[in-house]
Amino acid sequence: MNKKIFSGVQPTGNLHLGNYLGAIKNFVELQNDKKNECVYCVVDLHSITVKQDAKILKKNIRETVATFIASGLNPDKSIIFNQSAVSAHAEAAWILGCVSRMGWLSRMTQFKEKAGKDKEKASVGLYVYPVLMSADILLYDATHVPVGEDQKQHLELCRDIAQKFNHDFNAPDFLKVPEPLIQKQFSRIMSLKDGFKKMSKSDPSDFSRINLTDDKDLIINKIKKAKTDTSPMPGLKDNLEKRPEVENLIGIYSSLSNQKTDKTKIEFEGKNFSFFKNKLSELLVEKIDPIAKKIKDLLKDESSLDKILAEGSNKADNFASKKVNEIKKLVGF
Ligand code: TYM
Repeated sequence: MNKKIFSGVQPTGNLHLGNYLGAIKNFVELQNDKKNECVYCVVDLHSITVKQDAKILKKNIRETVATFIASGLNPDKSIIFNQSAVSAHAEAAWILGCVSRMGWLSRMTQFKEKAGKDKEKASVGLYVYPVLMSADILLYDATHVPVGEDQKQHLELCRDIAQKFNHDFNAPDFLKVPEPLIQKQFSRIMSLKDGFKKMSKSDPSDFSRINLTDDKDLIINKIKKAKTDTSPMPGLKDNLEKRPEVENLIGIYSSLSNQKTDKTKIEFEGKNFSFFKNKLSELLVEKIDPIAKKIKDLLKDESSLDKILAEGSNKADNFASKKVNEIKKLVGF
């Protein structure tokens, strides 16, 4: 089946191994299957749901495109653009927001986590964030949305919004109800410091994550300091429930080497951690260091990055403006 793929990444700096293994690596594989049509978006409107510095935001938008390209996305094969350049996203988000119910949004766990204890002080944008995300997806008739596990609930909401819109405006199948594409393994990469917390750009400790811009020495150092325990490497029969950090490192190794975790466990069973960590560092350096170097190179030529976004935005606008006009017609405008 031909798939229409849409996904987005926020330009908030510090793109990390979780973003890569949970999402971007998958974007590249989907792009390289000729049957798929792929649209990948730097979701800059989403990033301002928390306060941003204008100059840093601009730099981070370019860094996100550079990361896409350095990881293997190709603007001749995929549409790569930034959300704020295509006004249909904001327009559709308003209309879909009027279809969405407060109760649905109130259940979103990511809002609860991000808003923290003082919900009154969170921006309205942060609350309606999943509606904008739904607009992103539905404007392109996306059939499949590759994301990490943390976005699953937002995609379920997107499906509800699409179905309610189609029902309310008596337009069966008009908004396509998308399927999430969440990898069975490795869809949730955890912090290197705490195996119960997901690897995240907002963690104050840089040693909790491998950034895609980290150089060789830093990667080696971070893996050396990553939390483990005193038992040897587990085998197939060992229960890892109480050893989440160990399970996470095994997951990272397996994902980077494109093999099942069982194979990694068999490979390292009974070995001590320093042996495994050395192998993991070697693999990370082999896979991540070339990406980091390419990102640095690409960032030297800002105008080329801006051109990729401008051309991608034109192509995206062709789809999105038609769809939003049809949405407006159905609504009665
Ligand atoms: P964002 O920018 O937080 O993350 C980008 C992608 O990386 C995945 N990810 C992870 N995967 C595994 N382990 C982790 N520790 C980890 N951390 C992040 C995320 O699941 C995501 O796939 N709301 C989205 C952006 C968005 C979007 C969209 C996605 C906006 N519109 C439309 C899909 C379709 C977000 O904040 O992702």
